[in-house]
Formats: sequence, structure tokens, C-alpha cells
Amino acid sequence: MNICLNDKIFEVLCNVVTSENVRAYVIGGWVRDCLLKRNHADKDIDIVVIGSGINIARKAARKIDPKIKVSVFKNFGTAMFKNAEYEIEFVGARKESYDRTSRKPVVEDGTLEDDQKRRDFTINALAISINKETFGEFLDPFGGVEDLKKKIIKTPLEPDKTFSDDPLRMMRAIRFATQLNFTIEENTFKSITENVERIKIVSPERIVTELNKILMCEHPSKGFILLEKSGLLKIILPELENLRGIETKEGKTHKDNFLHSIKVLDNISKNTDNLWLRWAALLHDIAKPVTKKYLPETGWSFHGHEYVGSKMIPDIFRKLKLPLNEKMKYVQKIIDLHLRPIVLSQELVTDSAVRRLLFEAGDDIDDLMILCEADITSKNEAKKTKHLENFKLVRIKLKEIEEKDAVRNFQPPVDGSEIIEAFGIKPGKEVGIIKNAIREAILDGIIPNEHDAARKLMMDKGKELGLIPAVTDALS
Ligand code: CTP
Repeated sequence: MNICLNDKIFEVLCNVVTSENVRAYVIGGWVRDCLLKRNHADKDIDIVVIGSGINIARKAARKIDPKIKVSVFKNFGTAMFKNAEYEIEFVGARKESYDRTSRKPVVEDGTLEDDQKRRDFTINALAISINKETFGEFLDPFGGVEDLKKKIIKTPLEPDKTFSDDPLRMMRAIRFATQLNFTIEENTFKSITENVERIKIVSPERIVTELNKILMCEHPSKGFILLEKSGLLKIILPELENLRGIETKEGKTHKDNFLHSIKVLDNISKNTDNLWLRWAALLHDIAKPVTKKYLPETGWSFHGHEYVGSKMIPDIFRKLKLPLNEKMKYVQKIIDLHLRPIVLSQELVTDSAVRRLLFEAGDDIDDLMILCEADITSKNEAKKTKHLENFKLVRIKLKEIEEKDAVRNFQPPVDGSEIIEAFGIKPGKEVGIIKNAIREAILDGIIPNEHDAARKLMMDKGKELGLIPAVTDALS
């Protein structure tokens, strides 16, 4: 018995294709991941049918659960359905490309081998028969099993042909190499370097799906190095490519900020599965090239790169069709604040500086600390240990102040409507001035984060501005 067909679902599919008298195979990711003993994403099963995939999909769905809705894509000769456990896609074997997002209908019927050679990589072109008489038989005309053993990503056809059928496959090659820790075969990689321009015809949405998958790998740096080496990076994310390289002046050299950024990304990946924190790590120094200056007294400076970097994010996200919502704002905020804990760890920390950071970071303070710790990439172990020790102290200080003052997510204890009522005024400039004074006084530790103290300050500040209390205030 073939272990890849252990799931009960294959028995059902076997009965359907056998009684319909068509040949069918499970192919692609399911087979690859089974042989690698890897958990296959979302239990996606791809079935290729020598005949009508749509007919088999309908029959199989009826057998599994008559209520299942089958989605049919006539132009592509595919159909799919899902139940609680599986998502199964059926496709008729064909001679044409597998680019499902292309508008070009693909109709020409083909043999199994025609179908296999139109797939992206040998390791994704392995098929296993699900017909009764040949159940479990491997069909591997392009040496996919061997390439799985050798850990190689290779196209079944001449790579130029495979990549021109769907240029996204250049990104997929790099994504699989990163996910599986495989090597891209020399000829295949060479072809990527020669075809990079073709990535421009692929939609940003598809590109970013691959980028996100690379970011979620155990060692994402591998993917970014390959993207850089192949020439894809400068097309899809030129801002990151610009971080590459070092410069020396008067014997002073700055670090390669591309290598640093992907090292930080690897570091943070050990401690978080949050995709957006990984994006923040990748882009945290993105403004270093535009803020770079050489100062004869002190050497290289990237003054303000955290602020300028956070301002560059909307443009980058827009181009990549990443969400422009609170996820983007989170990335901006983390980048904007990424130097603050370092400053706190180096100087004598005042309560008010800690309070301000807690106030600005809110609930994202823990994520910010994770980034700061990942940001220490010094090769000098003693230096690294010292920084990490300092961060431990910052964490203790953050905890103490939070327990004492509860300023994380704090709303000033006196709000605008209370100010308006107290002085019988209309909303306007004065309300803002008083609110600001209260917030600053609390953050600076001049008054406690409590209502009575804030109200007293409100009365004093109002009088200073020439406002007259509407009612006699017991506290004024
Ligand atoms: N495929 C292809 N070219 C593409 C996309 C997909 O040849 N651009 C083929 C491959 O044979 C692949 C199968 O379609 O194995 C299914 O594609 P997909 O679901 O995108 O990938 P999986 O291989 O299942 O892997 P993952 O789920 O990790 O993306």
C-alpha cells in the first residue's frame, strides 16, 4: 500500500474513477509533501484526470456529501470542492500551461506525461495512480523522487520554457528552496537570472503571496539571498536591494544593511510567527540609504532612518498590494520606535522616558522588544551579551512602570467633554491645549495618572488661558 494514499478519501476517489472508467492520479504538493513526510498545507489534494476533471469532481462530491458545492472553472477544465477536511481540485490532463490566473483558456487534452511536463518542478510533477488495478503506482518520468532525495529544485522541461509559461515559477523555485531547504539546480537558476524581467507581467498579489511564504520560513534569509542573487529583488522590492553593499571613508566602514536586515529577520523568526512583525524586521532599516551621511568626527550616520523608514512603508505596501490597514500601521509603528528601547538601554533610564515608550507602543511593546533583541547582530559575543543584558533591564523597568502607572493604552483621565463642560466653552483650540498639558504632565510624572490630579491641572491650565469655570469646582 502506498503511504500517500492512506487517507480514506482515496478509497472513495478510487471507486469513482474506476466506475467512470477513467484514469486518474494524485499529483503535485500532496505527493511531494508525503514523500518528504511533511505536513501538507491545508490538506490540498490535486487530482489529474485523463478525461473530464469536471465530471469526476461532480461525481466524487456527490459520493462524499450530496450537499457539497462544486466550483467549476470551465475555461480551465478544472473543478474543486472542499469539505471540513480536504480541498480537492480536479483537472483534466492537458498540454498547456498551468497558469490558472492567466485569462487564456486552456483546453487541449493531453496525456498524463503532457500534463506532468507542463508543471513547475520535477518534485511537483510526481503522480500516483488512484485506479483500482494500478492503485499506488508511481509515475515519475522526470526523476522527481531522485530530486527529492538530492534536495533539488529543477524544472521538468528546458527551464526557459517552464518559466515563460508562468514567470511566477521563478519566485516559487526560490520559495520552495527556502521552505524545504533545497538547492536550485544550476541550469534552472541560470534561467531565472536570464528571465527576471518577465516577473513584471505577474500580478503583485501573486508575487506577495510567495514573498509572505518566504517570510514565514524557518530561515527566510535564504530566500532573500536567492532573490537578490537572481536579480528578482531589484525588480520586486528595489528598496531592499538598495541596502546592499558597504562603503568606506577615512578607514571607517558601515555594515552591509541588506545582510544585516535579513539576519535580523532570521533572528526574529525564532521568536515569532507574526508575519507583520517579520515584515517590520525585514524593513526596519529601509531608510538607511536615503539618510546615510558621513560625518568626519563621528563616521557614518543614518540619523532619522527609523522615522523616514516608517514613512516609506505605505508606498512599499501599495506597490506590493499589501494591506493598507492597521497591519501596515503596525509595521510603521514598530519601525518608527525601533531605536527607542536601545536608547533606554544605553542611558540612565528615567521613568518618564519609559512611560513615554509604553504610551506610544501600547500593546505592541512586547513585539517591539522582540525586534530590538533580534536587531543585535554584532559578531562580538561580549558586546552582544552586554546589549541583551541591558534589554533585560529595560524589560524589568517597563514592567515596573506599567504596574505602577498603567500608561500602556492610557486615555487621559479627563477628556474633552469634561473640559468643555467645566469652562462652558465650545470645542476648539483651548480644549486641545489643556488635554495635551494633562497628557504631558502624566507622561513626565509631574502628576499621577488619576482623575483628581488631572482635573486640578485642567482648572489651573484653564485659568492660565483666561477661561472662567462654569461651576465652582471643589478642587480648584
Ligand atoms: N503548479 C505549477 N505551476 C504553478 C503553480 C502550480 O505547475 N505556477 C502545479 C504544481 O504541480 C503544483 C500544483 O500545481 O504542485 C499545485 O499547486 P499549488 O497548490 O500552488 O502548490 P503546492 O505544490 O500544492 O504547494 P503549496 O501548497 O506549498 O503552495
